Amino acid sequence: MKGIILAGGAGSRLYPLTLVASKQLQPVYDKPMVYYPLTTLIESGIREFCLISTPHDLPRFKQLLGDGSAWGLTIEYREQPKPAGIAQAFLIAESFIGSDAVTLILGDNIFYGGDTFQRAFADFKSGATIFGYHVNDPERYGVVEFDAAGKAVSIEEKPKSPKSNYAVPGLYIFDNEVVAISKALKPSARGELEITAVNVEYLRRGTLRVHRLNRGFAWLDAGTSSSLHDASAYVQTIEKRAGIKIGCPEESAFRQGFVSLAQLDELVGKIPNCEYRDYLAAVVAEAKRLK
Ligand code: DAU
Repeated sequence: MKGIILAGGAGSRLYPLTLVASKQLQPVYDKPMVYYPLTTLIESGIREFCLISTPHDLPRFKQLLGDGSAWGLTIEYREQPKPAGIAQAFLIAESFIGSDAVTLILGDNIFYGGDTFQRAFADFKSGATIFGYHVNDPERYGVVEFDAAGKAVSIEEKPKSPKSNYAVPGLYIFDNEVVAISKALKPSARGELEITAVNVEYLRRGTLRVHRLNRGFAWLDAGTSSSLHDASAYVQTIEKRAGIKIGCPEESAFRQGFVSLAQLDELVGKIPNCEYRDYLAAVVAEAKRLK
């Protein structure tokens, strides 16, 4: 399974913050935003990544994440010249995807809690798997409607009259058909290749599964100044209370076995003195103690 992180877009709702750094590089409490979706996929066992962003912002992502080898990953980069739709990612990354299945995560989607994703990845064989999350304001999202038996029956993009309160978050798992399906799409009224149109096609074919994320699960939006602040506050609250970090790729890569304890130890040695280093040093010390 390959992983795409889509981190382009204009970021205009965060102006003037986005004059100097793109939305997905903004801090969410103690880390750049893109660390969170990257870590979500690492926790699901993904090691091969392609990050897509604007020609302007791509060099910054390369500076931040490099080729991924320090964390036992491979990260390739591709440009999206204009924000022509989320599904365009499958065309831009076609050579990266090759003949594999692929998951796409939006670079501004932050998830926390539960093992629903891990189980969905483990169970995935073919077709498409997406998720449904109960929200207050479904009209802002892709909305999935379920029948009495809990089966998905429709998906609509930003409907004026939503048929349910279940929004589709920005994490999607597809088989290789997604490339052909995306190639056949026509731009929507807003001029984009819509991810919802891809999901609708899988629904039409009878190969779409929708997992509902339960109440204990947090899906945070960091797209406006206010929601960015809320996301930071949420992360700070959990991290302080539990003494763990959310969205820490080094730790997740270690727990997945992508880097050894010796490699993690070496990595920690290269981090300047800071709270982030102290945290990872404690992870190393604990792992050594348990050895
Ligand atoms: O967050 C989940 C929602 O994301 C889904 O429920 C919707 O079905 C889906 O269409 C999308 O909704 P938005 O239209 O609100 O997404 P937005 O245009 O804000 O783009 C989401 C992120 O993807 C954003 O950080 C920018 C990036 N992006 C978006 C587009 C359209 C790109 O990098 N390139 C693009 O072409």
